[in-house]
Amino acid sequence: MSELSVNHLLGIKYLNKKDISLIFETADHFKEVINRSIKKVPTLRDITIANIFFENSTRTKLSFELAEKRLSADVVNFSAGQSSVKKGETLIDTVNNILSMKVDMVVMRHPNPGAGIFLSKHVKAAIVNAGDGAHEHPTQALLDSYSIREKLGDVGDKNVVIVGDILHSRVALSNIFALKLQGANVKVCGPRTLIPKHIESLGVEVETNLKKALEWCDVANMLRVQNERMDISYFPSTREYTQQFGVNKQLLNSLDKQIVIMHPGPINRGVEITSDVADSDQSIILHQVENGVAVRMAVLYLLASKIK
Ligand code: CP
Repeated sequence: MSELSVNHLLGIKYLNKKDISLIFETADHFKEVINRSIKKVPTLRDITIANIFFENSTRTKLSFELAEKRLSADVVNFSAGQSSVKKGETLIDTVNNILSMKVDMVVMRHPNPGAGIFLSKHVKAAIVNAGDGAHEHPTQALLDSYSIREKLGDVGDKNVVIVGDILHSRVALSNIFALKLQGANVKVCGPRTLIPKHIESLGVEVETNLKKALEWCDVANMLRVQNERMDISYFPSTREYTQQFGVNKQLLNSLDKQIVIMHPGPINRGVEITSDVADSDQSIILHQVENGVAVRMAVLYLLASKIK
């Protein structure tokens, strides 16, 4: 029987190509399940999962919770804002207290890069990283690649450009690892100040001209500028950013082909993407969200099957 090479999902950099194929094949099955009239399966009936979120989330939190409930797992939710973390409790103490209530898996979002890796060394539970600071967001990258595969048939050999704030983006890093593992060609595009200095060492090219990047690509993944992670200004003004790195319908119409537009959300409409693009036929943004549930069901199922 096929199984994942890992016991936790801490980042795409710990996965291999076979792991990604296995997750996608499993997600194909769950996508069919969630489109049935009865969307629930008893697969994780004896498993308890804690979703612990130390940072805000809409899509990831709801998507994991729905994935867990569709698999019939027992689910507990924890938000740091309403917890004893506010009274000074450490991460390990918090999680060990949750685990002593017989929790098998922890899905965690945390502002600190490496928080999930740290936790996996100190607690007895399968850990799923739901985004750790500017480090990785593995399930987002998996659902992004899954959505490209669904739209274009395959990810290998496709030209994908990731546009925007690469420097602060866990989505960018996880996408780069996932896309390269599957044989895609990857470029990043954005202001030089928002592109990490040695990004080429990951096998990607830098393009600072958005029009050229769009002419080259099959898929453009538009990222939000993460103002909440910035303590200085990285570009002169939002207006200037939008003029140089925002995608609008006029720009797309000037290309001699139809490209696929993606965005992980949350969208800043009118900044990195206009509404007429976000809501157009070229956009697969809501397909990404739908696929997120199936992909997360696959990840949870495959990790749960490794719990001794
Ligand atoms: N894509 C994503 O991570 O969105 P949320 O922050 O809303 O979870």
